Amino acid sequence: MELHLKGKTAVVTGASKGIGLAIVEGLAREGVKVVAGSRNTSPELDALAASHDVTVVAVDLSTPDGPESLIRQAVERHGRLDILVNNVGAAEPRTSFLEVSDEQWQQVFDLTFFSAVRASRAALPYLLQAEESSIVNISSINARLPFPMVVDYSAAKAALTNVNKALSEEFAPQGVRVNAISPGPVRTPFWTAPGAFADATATAAGTTPQEALDVVVPQSMGISSGRITEAHEVADLALFLASPVAGNITGAEIVIDGGQVKTL
Ligand SMILES: NC(=O)c1ccc[n+]([C@@H]2O[C@H](COP(=O)([O-])OP(=O)(O)OC[C@H]3O[C@@H](n4cnc5c(N)ncnc54)[C@H](OP(=O)(O)O)[C@@H]3O)[C@@H](O)[C@H]2O)c1
Repeated sequence: MELHLKGKTAVVTGASKGIGLAIVEGLAREGVKVVAGSRNTSPELDALAASHDVTVVAVDLSTPDGPESLIRQAVERHGRLDILVNNVGAAEPRTSFLEVSDEQWQQVFDLTFFSAVRASRAALPYLLQAEESSIVNISSINARLPFPMVVDYSAAKAALTNVNKALSEEFAPQGVRVNAISPGPVRTPFWTAPGAFADATATAAGTTPQEALDVVVPQSMGISSGRITEAHEVADLALFLASPVAGNITGAEIVIDGGQVKTL
């Protein structure tokens, strides 16, 4: 399918690894000029910057000024903005609601929710000037399926899914489409980094992190397809939603979870 993305300009948050990196790669291969924001770069992101029109910006997106600074640098470089992908977000495994402090709640909301609010607020004046523009918010099935183990993260994603709809309502008449993707478990460092969820699941099940991701998680979470999602599958969906091919899709939340969520 021709996505008609060539020549557009995009900002992707949380771009050095995982889903964000896969989205940068997909957009760059479609001929999009990408400005990629994360605290650090990675060998994979550096390789994309060397071979495509990808600009790497070092930025802490959990700070009040970080998202605005990223958007400003993108517009300074390219003079326009057509696509914003609010991808950055993170969760820490919690043992109980009772152990999550105000500071931890605030940190999770700053990164997972306020980064998207702040980036969208900074980007919208430019998106409104573009002929066909869109925001893609990477939310989570936890927005509607809160897990105690990620109680704060689930609430932050619920807020993001909610704002996704409000933004789509306000800006659709002015030509900016706003959509969300809600993945179930995706094979990224979010799961595979040392001490992250694959390790925690493996310890609890008495198995290896690999086995935990390939067998324990799909079985214990009721993933009907029998496997977790790959980052490039989320990226393909993000590219579709960002493209003019999805020209009359706005306010949608597309779930990609292998059938984990059983409700309509
Ligand atoms: N993986 C899953 O199972 C899953 C499921 C549902 C939803 N999601 C959502 O999908 C999105 C991407 O997740 P992922 O799995 O790709 O995560 P990941 O593998 O942990 O990657 C996170 C990215 O965000 C960047 N980042 C983290 N903190 C940052 C900060 N303070 N400022 C700037 N950049 C920061 C990281 O780079 P640096 O460390 O260099 O900053 C990295 O590039 C998140 O919103 C997540 O909630 C993931």
